[in-house]
Amino acid sequence: MNREEIIQAKKLLEASELVAIPTETVYGIAANAFDINAINKIYKVKNRPLNNPLIVHLSSSKDIFNVAKSIPDVAQSLIGRYWPGPLTLVLPKNDDIPDEVTSRLDTVGVRVPNHPMTLELLQSIDFPLVAPSANRSNHISPTKAAHVASSLGGNAPFIMDGGSCTKGIESTILGFEEGRVVLYRHGAISKEDIEAFIGEEVIEKTTNEKPITPGNFKKHYSPDTKTILSDNPYKILKELDGVRVGTILMNDPKDIIDVPFRCLSMTGDLKEVSRNLYDALHEFDQMDLELILVERAPYMGLGYSINDRLLRAVQ
Ligand code: TXA
Ligand code: MG
Repeated sequence: MNREEIIQAKKLLEASELVAIPTETVYGIAANAFDINAINKIYKVKNRPLNNPLIVHLSSSKDIFNVAKSIPDVAQSLIGRYWPGPLTLVLPKNDDIPDEVTSRLDTVGVRVPNHPMTLELLQSIDFPLVAPSANRSNHISPTKAAHVASSLGGNAPFIMDGGSCTKGIESTILGFEEGRVVLYRHGAISKEDIEAFIGEEVIEKTTNEKPITPGNFKKHYSPDTKTILSDNPYKILKELDGVRVGTILMNDPKDIIDVPFRCLSMTGDLKEVSRNLYDALHEFDQMDLELILVERAPYMGLGYSINDRLLRAVQ
C-alpha cells in the first residue's frame, strides 16, 4: 500500500480540497463532511444537482452517533453483519451534519467502506468523509483510477489509486420507515440476502417516478454512446447491418460474434458480472461505436441491481 498517497490525501482534505478515493463498490470523490466549502466543490466538479444528498463515510461503526441521532435495532444488526461493506443506511441525522450533505433532508446516508487504503485514510483524519461516486453527474461510475480521470477530465482531483473495485457496483441503500426495512437503491448486496439476514420482507421504494433517493432519477449511469438492452442480443446482432456495434454479454458467447464483444463472466456469475460491468461500459464508450448492445441479466439476486443500472444507462 502506498503510504505517500494516503499522507498526501490527508493533507489535501485538511486543506478543504477534494480527493478521489477507492472503495470496494466504486471510486468516490471525497471531502470533509463538516467543511461546507469543500462540499460545495463536490457539487461543482460533478455538476451534481443540489437536491441529491451525499453519503457519509466513517472509519468505524463506533463513530455512528457523530452522524446519526438514533438507530433502530434492526439497523444495529445490519451494521454488525455488513460493515465495513457495501451497505448504506439512511438514519435520522445528527444536528451537526451540515444541510449541504443531506440536501436539507432530516435523514443522512452513512456507511463504513471496505477498502484498506480508504480505511487507513479515514483512521488518519479526525472527520468523516462525504463521497459521491467520482464521475460527472449521470455518467458511468468509476471502478478504476483511470475511469475517474476520464470521466472528470480537467476537473479530476488527486486520485488515490487503490486498483479495481472488488464489488464494482454502488452500495445497497436501506432506510427504516414505521418499523419496516425499506430498499431505496439496489446495490452490491442483493435484496434477497438482506431479507434472509433480517428474516422479513424488505419494502421496495426504488421507483423512478418520485425518487426518495434522487440517484434513482431515470437517466443515470449513462455512457455517451447510445446503449440498448436485450434478452436476445444474438438476434439483434443478426438484424443490424453496417452499424458499428459492440456487445456486452452476461455469459460465455452462445454463437459466433463478429463484432467487438466482452463477456462479463464466463460462468454467468453475477458477482463477477457486477465487478466488470462499469469497466466494460467505460471501455465500449471509448471505442467510437454507434451502439452498445447489452444483454439483460437474469432477474435473481444481484441481477436486480445489474438490470437497474442498465435500465438507467439506456434511458
Ligand atoms: O457505493 C456507494 O455508495 C458509493 C461509494 C463512493 O461509497 N457512493 C455513491 O454515492 O454511490 P452517490 O452520491 O453516487 O449516490 C448516493 C445516493 C444518491 O442516490 C443519494 O440520493 C442517496 O445516496 N442518498 C444519500 N443520502 C440520502 C438520504 N438521506 N435519503 C435518501 N437517499 C440518500
Ligand atoms: Mg453516483
